[in-house]
Amino acid sequence: MIKGQFPVEKFHSLETPFYYYDMDLLRRTLMAIRKEIEGKNYIVHYALKANANPRILREIASCGFGADCVSGNEILRALECGFPASRIAFAGVGKTDKEIRIGLDNDIFCFNVESLPELEAIEELASGGGRNARIALRINPNVDAHTHRYITTGMEENKFGLNEADLPKALDMIAGSNHLQLIGMHFHIGSQITDMSSFEDLCVKVVELEEWFSRQGVSFDVINVGGGLGINYHHPNHCPVADFEAYFRLFGKYLKLREGQSLHFELGRSLVAQCGSLIARTTYVKEGVSKKFLITDAGMTDLIRPALYQAFHHIENISSDDEYETYDVVGPVCESSDVFGEGVSLNRAKRGDLIAIRSAGAYGETMASMYNCRALPGAYFSDTL
Ligand code: LLP
Repeated sequence: MIKGQFPVEKFHSLETPFYYYDMDLLRRTLMAIRKEIEGKNYIVHYALKANANPRILREIASCGFGADCVSGNEILRALECGFPASRIAFAGVGKTDKEIRIGLDNDIFCFNVESLPELEAIEELASGGGRNARIALRINPNVDAHTHRYITTGMEENKFGLNEADLPKALDMIAGSNHLQLIGMHFHIGSQITDMSSFEDLCVKVVELEEWFSRQGVSFDVINVGGGLGINYHHPNHCPVADFEAYFRLFGKYLKLREGQSLHFELGRSLVAQCGSLIARTTYVKEGVSKKFLITDAGMTDLIRPALYQAFHHIENISSDDEYETYDVVGPVCESSDVFGEGVSLNRAKRGDLIAIRSAGAYGETMASMYNCRALPGAYFSDTL
């Protein structure tokens, strides 16, 4: 069994539940990525949706990463936390006029356009406001990411991106505008991808489409392959936290950049998942008819991934060294899906014991809700606690 390195004594005086971030691990992860992209024309935009805590964002921005945003508020948050506008990409199928204006007013790096009506809206707002919009066409590559159905995004039946059939029309619209500058192609096939062959399939598609565009007389400075690199939820202490080396090597092998072209990535989970844990207190240990329930003061409102995607998170009792017992670890929320893990082997627990739910740095705090009038979880950082 893996035991995390937590300042348990310090935790005792804190109100639970809260997120605890290991800032040293975050920094080591960022350095590992920087090492892989150094000297290459690669730019990593951090996907804010994974974790938008300002402390985390400032750390990532200070390492020179760009930002991938999916709402006007994410753009504003990224700017506040030190990401330069010139490194902010804006994706999303439903950008509102207000959000498009935020992008235009701040002269962000690029709009990743997902439909013809959106292209029309950006053109109207840009020309109406006397602004220019750099755009990349997000193309649905119809590549299977072999991941959970809720987080696969690059298949024909998904709502994301332009279909290939839309491309001639998109090019016409762009050619007819003085306010749209086409700089790139954008893709994103899904999240928590651990089978690298999905990225290979994506690369094949990228090359094919680049050739198609080139036949139309169009070339791109920017190729954006999105994010999706998965982590190992069963080994929260594994270092490096993801196989960055293999990931970047694969793209380098398949996508040969010409002079002036840059390859962009939008990684979220792999940067932040392993540095975060959700810390909860054991409210009760309850003997059921056929099993024991460990009821924590954290629930699906604090970390919804297990309830929403049946996601696995490694769980530890960080207050006890007693022998192991088996529990269903559940939250207090009035939903049967409010379960963090079934049949979990933990050091014997008693009321008050602190429980760590690991690998929760991505899509944890950002997806928290106030259902049942619950308070949002707090956040503490290893270097300031
Ligand atoms: N780029 C785009 C256009 C995206 O839609 C996403 C994630 C990313 C980049 C970042 O992907 P990552 O590197 O983090 O895999 N809530 C789910 C994950 C949803 C991902 C949505 N899009 C979860 O908890 O697993």
